[in-house]
This record gives sequence, structure tokens and C-alpha cells, in this order.
Amino acid sequence: RQRQMCIRDSGIIMDGNGRWAKKRALPRSAGHKAGAEVFRTISKECGRLGLESATFYAFSTENWKRPKEEVDAIMRLFKDYLLEAKSDITAAGDMKMKFIGERDGMSKELLELMDEAEEDTSEHCGTTIYLAVNYGGRLEICDAVNKLIAEGKTNITEKDISDNIFTPPECDLIIRPSGEQRLSNFMLWQVSYAEMWFTDKLWPDFKPADLHKAIIDFQNRGRRFGGV
Ligand code: FPP
Repeated sequence: RQRQMCIRDSGIIMDGNGRWAKKRALPRSAGHKAGAEVFRTISKECGRLGLESATFYAFSTENWKRPKEEVDAIMRLFKDYLLEAKSDITAAGDMKMKFIGERDGMSKELLELMDEAEEDTSEHCGTTIYLAVNYGGRLEICDAVNKLIAEGKTNITEKDISDNIFTPPECDLIIRPSGEQRLSNFMLWQVSYAEMWFTDKLWPDFKPADLHKAIIDFQNRGRRFGGV
């Protein structure tokens, strides 16, 4: 029985900010602010634990449908984070920062800050933190296919797509807080054999201990990758 106990690549869906705020009679933006703090803590913990990569779902291609003030508040939180990202990440060790998702639709200011954070951390060789912003899993696959077509490929293989998506092609573990048990268009190609881990806790309440629990549970599962 093949048991792959070592977790390399993980994906985290940061869900439940709105409900966290509602429970406290706060505006939804306060939930996102608390969520952004938790992102800082948990991304650094992923680095400390030595994962190869962790991909955080921050904003989907569908999230533009939310009220303008909520979208603006989330974009402001990105900006705040990006302004301090270099020192924050450097202080935490040698994590690498990457952004995945469509550039179209993002402001020029944010795109420049995103590029800067990637450049500033590109020499680091620790955990890669991917932040999925304006991201959709189906779009990611279409982008990969279109790139291959543009290169003149006619018979596209799984390896071709795996080599052309944004993150490492196999995700080991997906974590989704807030009681929802769905993927919401996140890392669709990468999750073929991913283990799924859910908790009812809302993202702003998520602690390093919850990440540890998810990893320990992961290590106790038997992964067979379709074999016996
Ligand atoms: C899902 O919760 C969360 C989002 C759509 C936004 C996530 C954004 C952040 C955590 C802040 C981003 C900033 C940085 C620096 C990463 P929800 O609003 O759908 O919650 P609900 O389901 O309870 O309404």
C-alpha cells in the first residue's frame, strides 16, 4: 500500500470572513481585515513547517459580483499587505511570494506591487506562498491549453497541462474552514488526488494549531492514488 505521508503542496480556501463579522455585528470588511491577519500568520507557519508550497485563495473571478465597497475593502487589504510584504516575509524567513490569477481587471498599482513582491522574494528558496487573486481553476486550465495551442501543440497531454499551470501540479491537501465542503473553482487540475480537510471554524478564527491538526490528520490517512 502506497502511503504518501509527506505533505509538500497544500491549498487553503480562506472562507467565513463575512459570517465572522456578522456574528459580531461588524461590517464584512472587518471580517476580511481579520482574515488578512490570519493569512499573515498561517502563511508564515507554512514556511516554518517547511512545506514546499501553500496556495491561498483570496479572490475568485466570481468575487467581483460582490458589492463595490466590499471588493474595494479587499483590494485595500491586498495593498496594505503588499506594502509590507517584503519586510514581513523576509522577517519570517526565506519564503517566496507568487501571485496566480488573471492580471486583467486588477489595478495597475496592485499589479506593480505584486510584481515587486515576486521580484523581491524570487531568490528565496524556502516555501512558496501562492496568493490566488482574480483566480479561477477552469480559467487556469484554459490558459494553459491556449498557451500550448499558441506554441503549436496539437496533441495536448496531461504532462503538458501540468507543466503549464501556475502552481505545482499535485496538491496534497486542501483545507477549507467555515463548514462549507466544496471547491469553488479552486485548483481544479491540482486536486485529483488531494486529501480534503474541513473544519467548522471560520477563517478569522483559524489558528496554527488547526493547520497542525490538518497535517496530522493528513499523515494518518492512507493515500493510494487509485492503486490498492
Ligand atoms: C471568503 O469569505 C473570503 C473572501 C472572498 C476574501 C478573502 C480575503 C482575505 C482573507 C483578505 C485578503 C487579504 C490578504 C492580504 C490575503 P466570505 O466573505 O465568503 O465569508 P462568508 O462565506 O462567511 O460570507
